[in-house]
Amino acid sequence: MRPTFKLALPAQQFLTEYWQKKPLVMRQVASGLDHPDADTLSGLSLESDVDSRLITGHGDGPWNLQHGPFDENDFRVLPRENWTLLVQSVDCFLTEVSMLLDHFSFLPAWRLEDIMISYASRGGSVGPHFDRYDVFLMQAKGQRRWKIGDHCDPHTPLQENDQLKLINNMKVRDEYVLGPGDVLYLPPGVAHWGIAEDSDCITWSVGFRAPSPVDILGRLADQAAESGGDTLFTDPDRTVPSDAASLQPADIEALTRQAFRALTPDIQRRALAELLSEPSCPSGLDFDVDHDHIAAASPDALLVRHGATRLILDDQGDAWLNGNHWPLTEAAKPLIRLLAGQRLYTEAELQPVTHDDGQDLLDEWIEAGYFAYLDFSTDE
Ligand code: SIN
Ligand code: CO
Repeated sequence: MRPTFKLALPAQQFLTEYWQKKPLVMRQVASGLDHPDADTLSGLSLESDVDSRLITGHGDGPWNLQHGPFDENDFRVLPRENWTLLVQSVDCFLTEVSMLLDHFSFLPAWRLEDIMISYASRGGSVGPHFDRYDVFLMQAKGQRRWKIGDHCDPHTPLQENDQLKLINNMKVRDEYVLGPGDVLYLPPGVAHWGIAEDSDCITWSVGFRAPSPVDILGRLADQAAESGGDTLFTDPDRTVPSDAASLQPADIEALTRQAFRALTPDIQRRALAELLSEPSCPSGLDFDVDHDHIAAASPDALLVRHGATRLILDDQGDAWLNGNHWPLTEAAKPLIRLLAGQRLYTEAELQPVTHDDGQDLLDEWIEAGYFAYLDFSTDE
């Protein structure tokens, strides 16, 4: 079964009342979250490409954090309770998991980051903390108790174990138990602590991309340098300075203004489309990771976007795939628009928008592994 999710309220109402503002619990709004199971997750955490963590501890601690890749022995020596395995960017490695992101079209595609999945034994948690990003916490298996606290900021007192950045004396304002299919949305900065109530607790976390001004300015500067703008500072209206030794505010303002003026719409588009289309998973990911599931010859196979392929369109309708620019002909645009708008494509959807230019590009992208045929018939 493919993963699905539907907001419990109209999308605009969610954005206006909750997005980036306050938590929301939605009951029975997700399904098809049965894969991956615990064995698949622990298997992923053995891989060197995969970013994973094991956290042990409960209550007042002590807490322990280990980073993957793990080996089978690490799991053999675990206690029965109070530990959690967290695997980052599972959507990149298991294309079926990435299909959940098709249900987040109430936000622009570039705003989505990745899907982390945790597997916890009874009592397992990552401790009281806050995240800097919005997150949808979706209960896939078992029950998890969520304690919700106040909005935090960089001054919020933390415990001494600075690796985990746990909050000191988190005040609990609300408490909910989530079962399979229930979803908790949290805006950035809200204190939370999710504790597994069962011995087999799996939670998916859909996280979001929020580049910092420093990231954006760096990319704009790189792109401006690449575009070869070589105009120099000008000051034809100069008056005699009152203090020739100092850099005056008016000059700071003029220098900055002229620098920003060099950032043409084309430079802005290229810098941001490149930054926002870069994948969240490690570069050089082997595109054969879920090859076993791919069966192009099967009549039940559907064209899908590989989970590690990030594809967005810019305002000219050109494609940006994993940080690379693909200028498109007008004839190719309808097909590529379909490919960028969703992750799974039926023949009935593809056929009306496919013409030679688009088909050639799609063939090239299939050859490179960015798109593939996936057989869903075995698990449905
Ligand atoms: C978890 O899945 O155990 C933790 C996720 C979170 O609190 O952000
Ligand atoms: Co969190």
